[in-house]
Amino acid sequence: MQLIKLKFCLILFLQFAEGNPEAKIYWSSVTYTSNPTYVSDFSVIIFNDTDGDTKSNMTVTQLEDMEKFIITIVLKQSSKKGMKDFDRELLRINADTCKLSQGSFKNYIVRNLFREFIEVSNLRFSCPQLKGTFYLRKFLLPGSIPYMDKFLRNTVNGYFEFTLLIRAKPFKKKLTDGVCVKAYGIYTFE
Ligand SMILES: *[C@@H]1O[C@H](CO)[C@@H](O)[C@H](O)[C@H]1NC(C)=O
Ligand SMILES: *[C@@H]1O[C@H](CO)[C@@H](O)[C@H](O)[C@H]1NC(C)=O
Repeated sequence: MQLIKLKFCLILFLQFAEGNPEAKIYWSSVTYTSNPTYVSDFSVIIFNDTDGDTKSNMTVTQLEDMEKFIITIVLKQSSKKGMKDFDRELLRINADTCKLSQGSFKNYIVRNLFREFIEVSNLRFSCPQLKGTFYLRKFLLPGSIPYMDKFLRNTVNGYFEFTLLIRAKPFKKKLTDGVCVKAYGIYTFE
């Protein structure tokens, strides 16, 4: 298996299963960094919308054409209750955007997430990935978490750190960091 699954562990939870209905994620803050050689005007916000859901807006300008992106998603919690060490990795997913855009991704969750994503974004993850300015508008972050037991077997009550790292492969150059977003919140279940 190589870089197989993807991606924003997001909307899928709401849409594809009825897992543990008591489980809930509260998203509280977000931080982000970007590589100024390849990216400008990067910003990410998360906000509680009037419908009660937490959503994300993002904009980014990609300054050079890229061969492809590699997306990594990591979910971490602390091994000590109530702490924010984030030393315990619960989930790691890598995805090569060429596989996604060709529809050759096997994992159905990933495929569905990808579909959700492109509905609220103009980013297409094509291969190559041509430069341009991209946005994400009102992307729904998961609140209640069906599917959790299957996907995040070891999750416990408490703080978590969600990381989205997008690395870019410039033509004839090595893979390099593009943007990194970290979102924080609390996972609860009764
Ligand atoms: C959204 O609301 C929840 C519940 O009141 C709160 O815990 C969280 O910090 C809020 N998130 C943001 C991004 O304002
Ligand atoms: C998020 O983007 C939408 C669509 O562009 C916009 O209407 C909304 O005001 C933005 N929300 C925030 C908090 O900036």
